[in-house]
Amino acid sequence: MIVVAIDGPAGAGKSTIAKALAKKLNLRYLDTGAMYRAVTFAALNRNLDLSAESAIAEIASQCVMHIDDDSIFIDGVDATQAIRGQEVTRAVSVVATNSLVRTELRGRQRQWVSEHGGGVVEGRDIGSVVFPDATLKVYLTASPMVRAKRRVAQSGGDVELIAAEIAERDQRDSSRSDSPLMKTSDSVTVDTSDIPVDEVVDHIERLVVAQQHTKQASN
Ligand code: DC
Repeated sequence: MIVVAIDGPAGAGKSTIAKALAKKLNLRYLDTGAMYRAVTFAALNRNLDLSAESAIAEIASQCVMHIDDDSIFIDGVDATQAIRGQEVTRAVSVVATNSLVRTELRGRQRQWVSEHGGGVVEGRDIGSVVFPDATLKVYLTASPMVRAKRRVAQSGGDVELIAAEIAERDQRDSSRSDSPLMKTSDSVTVDTSDIPVDEVVDHIERLVVAQQHTKQASN
């Protein structure tokens, strides 16, 4: 079973690259950030206080979540657009510090991969915690200004303001005690600041193939 873990900070190009890579490798793609966003969306809809840890964890454990490449539904509600909105984007890193939520979503992510026979999985803790034995672990990064400009190109806004928000989110994602964003010693770091998407995808595809050959040879 092939599992490619793609971790890295916001705006590093994870979604674009992971989707294109999945297509090339004929694997499914899972955006785990969308799962944290969907739980946040449901919590905001219920007017829950974000510090209400068990109430939010209950959503993560009880909800029915359908996720595919282009959409996400939570308890029958199409949350695809709303999870990209400012309200959810501002609140999600607080929900992502909730260990009970993380445990629930980790279980769902492992189940999804086993049901789909592998996949390209993007997030923050995929190579470090969710799939420590992934076929290949990639840590994608890009300079803070490049990342902010990409977000502005996607969703508009002021570059300086977006850069400040990204920095705050990075700080929260990297400093939380439960499964923080980190580079593992066995991951390959790819800086996407100045490399076109298709070159990054080709490069990672070659690494996956090489890794499979190494694993096959050692079996
Ligand atoms: O990748 P994204 O911006 O959609 O992620 C949304 C938030 O969820 C972000 O604050 C990081 C967090 N996240 C996480 O903690 N662990 C993951 N595996 C994926 C996302």
